[in-house]
Amino acid sequence: MGKAQGRNTFRTIVALTAAAVIPLGTAHAAEKVKVGLMLPYTGTYAALGNAITNGFKQYVAEQGGTLGGREVQYFVVDDESDPSKATENASKLVKRDDVDVLVGTVHSGVALAMAKVARDTKTLMIIPNAGADELTGPLCAPNVFRSSFTNWQPAYGMGKVAAERGHKNIVTLTWKYAAGEQAVNGFKEAFEKAGGKVAKELYLPFPNVEFQPYLTEIANLKHDAVFVFFAGGGAAKFVKDYDAAGLKKSIPLYGSGFLTDGTLEAMGGAGEGLLTTLHYADGLTNAKDKAFRSAYEAQYKMPPDVYAVQGYDAAQMLRAGLDAAKGPELDQAAMIKAMEAAKIDSPRGAFTLSKAHNPVQDIYLREAAGNQNKFVSVAERALEDPARGCRMK
Ligand code: PHB
Repeated sequence: MGKAQGRNTFRTIVALTAAAVIPLGTAHAAEKVKVGLMLPYTGTYAALGNAITNGFKQYVAEQGGTLGGREVQYFVVDDESDPSKATENASKLVKRDDVDVLVGTVHSGVALAMAKVARDTKTLMIIPNAGADELTGPLCAPNVFRSSFTNWQPAYGMGKVAAERGHKNIVTLTWKYAAGEQAVNGFKEAFEKAGGKVAKELYLPFPNVEFQPYLTEIANLKHDAVFVFFAGGGAAKFVKDYDAAGLKKSIPLYGSGFLTDGTLEAMGGAGEGLLTTLHYADGLTNAKDKAFRSAYEAQYKMPPDVYAVQGYDAAQMLRAGLDAAKGPELDQAAMIKAMEAAKIDSPRGAFTLSKAHNPVQDIYLREAAGNQNKFVSVAERALEDPARGCRMK
């Protein structure tokens, strides 16, 4: 029996008691949904965890603090982007706090451990960032959903763009963990399909920011261009170092758009002109994005980024599920069915989910100008992760 169903007997009793004292129409509103936010609030990805939280809470606030008629109750854990603490952190949320849904996280390694807890305990999980290809690939599961991307998706878009820009030999550099390795693989797949060659792959441990030896090697290799995956504080430091080493003028730098999302201000101008690919951009023209951005800026006194969008959309996905979980019981099967069928009106542009529960979405080419990643063009329309190895049971 799933944990949501396991709690239903108790819930039903509570609801029946409540129904005796409150008018019928409001009995449902007395129900709660317990949301476990497991995200990084310290370390190189701290700003990402905060933006996801902001976005999620913004959507809930727009619904008056409830989703599907249920009052949202938060349980929050700082996962520190540390895979070695992930199982314990996720287990605490599930077993001690008894959450109905796990929302997390940013780091692919942490998310892989977290998803194992979700699968083992049949807890609903929505991933608002971590791109680990496996989670909507060989490890896909009915109760695991993603509001973000696979590491393959934006990088694949960049591989195509780099080839179109005439580059032939490229060196890659990233942190050696799932997100970096899978981004390089996605880039390589598209770039080599279009006739290019990834001539050298360089790696450093996460979250190391001692880039100097790698910059020296890149300068010596004299390849056409560089592709990187970095994000958060580490991305800002990398771009500043790349520029300070004089490389930005001589060897074009490309990346999955995490390189410049939410980090341009910290780069202090070093990111100007960088071309990246991502499923979000500044300057989109859809109505949802306009409303989302002005509300976010009014509330948080800063512009939103891709992470804020992914948090907002995780809450939209949960709402789609809860709307279908009619009555006091949290019917997980009904929730899953509704989430699978949902069309999410995202600030990035509306999207649906693939059979593996990952967004099918446009990948935009953007150019950094001031503190914005300005929309240039659609690099890939409705790009669906191949979800290799996913057998949904
Ligand atoms: C990941 O670990 O999957 C990850 C982290 C930060 C990003 C993107 C992906 O910005």
